[in-house]
Amino acid sequence: MNTASWIQRARLEMIDIGVESIRDSGILPERGAKFFPVIGYPPLTMFSDMDQGPLFDNLQQRRARPLLGYAHIPFCPSRCTFCHWITKTKSKSEEVDIYLDYLEREMILYKQNMGLDAIPVQSVLIGGGTPTYPSPAKMERFMKMYTTHYDLSGCTQFSVEAEPGTLLGKEGYEKLRIMKDYGVDRISLGVQSFDDDILRYMGRVHTHAHTLESIRNMRKAGIENVFIDLIYGYPNQTVEMWTRHMLEAVTLDIEGYQLYRLRIKQHGDRQGNIIVHAQKHPERFPDTDEVLLMKYLGILISEEHGFHEYQTRCFARKPEYISHYLRDWAAELADVAGVGVSAWSTLRGVFAINVGDTNLQNYYSLIDQGKVAINRGKARTKDDELRRSFILPLKNMKVNKQLFTERTGENISHVFKNEVAWLKQLGLLEENDQDICLTKLGKYFADEVATQFFNPDYMPFQEVIRAPPQIAVG
Ligand SMILES: C[S@@+](CC[C@H](N)C(=O)[O-])C[C@H]1O[C@@H](n2cnc3c(N)ncnc32)[C@H](O)[C@@H]1O
Ligand code: SF4
Repeated sequence: MNTASWIQRARLEMIDIGVESIRDSGILPERGAKFFPVIGYPPLTMFSDMDQGPLFDNLQQRRARPLLGYAHIPFCPSRCTFCHWITKTKSKSEEVDIYLDYLEREMILYKQNMGLDAIPVQSVLIGGGTPTYPSPAKMERFMKMYTTHYDLSGCTQFSVEAEPGTLLGKEGYEKLRIMKDYGVDRISLGVQSFDDDILRYMGRVHTHAHTLESIRNMRKAGIENVFIDLIYGYPNQTVEMWTRHMLEAVTLDIEGYQLYRLRIKQHGDRQGNIIVHAQKHPERFPDTDEVLLMKYLGILISEEHGFHEYQTRCFARKPEYISHYLRDWAAELADVAGVGVSAWSTLRGVFAINVGDTNLQNYYSLIDQGKVAINRGKARTKDDELRRSFILPLKNMKVNKQLFTERTGENISHVFKNEVAWLKQLGLLEENDQDICLTKLGKYFADEVATQFFNPDYMPFQEVIRAPPQIAVG
């Protein structure tokens, strides 16, 4: 089937499943033109000033959860136009060493505060920034400290984010070999696009040829699970080009991919430059209909080639290949012990986020005071816990009714009765005796459905319609 036929089929299926009726239903901000990816709940915008106190106080008396590990390495080969994360470019070798010194001090403070010799984690994500940017010697140093201060004996997956240009040739292979030796079994590669002009426009310093070479290098080093990230909705990207790229993605020697819709407004501590492009050159951006079509094409082409959406926006050949860190975060509502600038944690009912500032001195100065570098957070209320126990499993997988009751002490059909009934009428949710989950149409609008369960005060967009208080349940 050629690209035009895929596009035609996607258009027809979108009509068939009723995408247009949802666009008119009032639950999409600006009929889908704005969107808010639901990653955690409550959203970061609801955090206020906080130090490490509430995260660790009376830890032993609070109910334990499975624990995941995160570490943030902020260094990158370039500053990408679309990126809202805390990153540093053109870093000298000594700067990386200083950061690693402080990161190790923070790991030690963290485990002391938890009263542990090593923090036992059930899965790990090393993210950034670009954790594979530092040299092989620094990679070895990092791996050594991480595996010293964290207990990985029960760890089901050790995943690292990477940029293709940092994994090339002998040096790239050396980094991969070191990671493999320390137990890394999954790499999530920031490919973003297969088109060199778009990559340049994104401010990336790698090319498509580098992407292919880095995948070969990962295979040579024996990395079992290779995932790639792709972005749709980017300036100058056409539906036809995206279709071709999706058809190429399914032929690569990889276990899966994550498809990200371009986010123009920041979601963290830093606003990416993409907003300036959106203001100056709106004509370069695909329109909302095209973006929604790209999203559908991603789902359709994946399913037809054996890549299933085991978690919203994560497509894999087998369920075990998706990120265990993201899976356990959503399905088990696992806790997270996060270290590094801008890293976040959640321990036994309390959220915390570290200083998010490209001036690393602000991160260092808290550690110099003998504290983990937290400066904001939120102790979750009963309402937060209730909504979180529904929103995260729903958006990412499904909500098991019995588990919901075990976690919250509440009966789901009492708590969200109206919302569930209304979203079922819209064809977005389905329910059986055990579970509530998104329909095919609901999965397509997973973020928008999830925000329907937000506390009204936490809504990212006030203009969207919410479940009417009384509805006729047929
Ligand atoms: C923290 S980044 C790290 C990846 C790695 N540093 C790289 O870029 O090669 C994780 C992924 O989030 C996605 N991402 C980052 N900013 C985004 C944005 N503004 N809109 C959509 N996706 C974004 C990208 O696909 C990226 O690979
Ligand atoms: S997208 Fe990745 S490589 Fe680019 S600046 Fe952000 S973290 Fe760094």
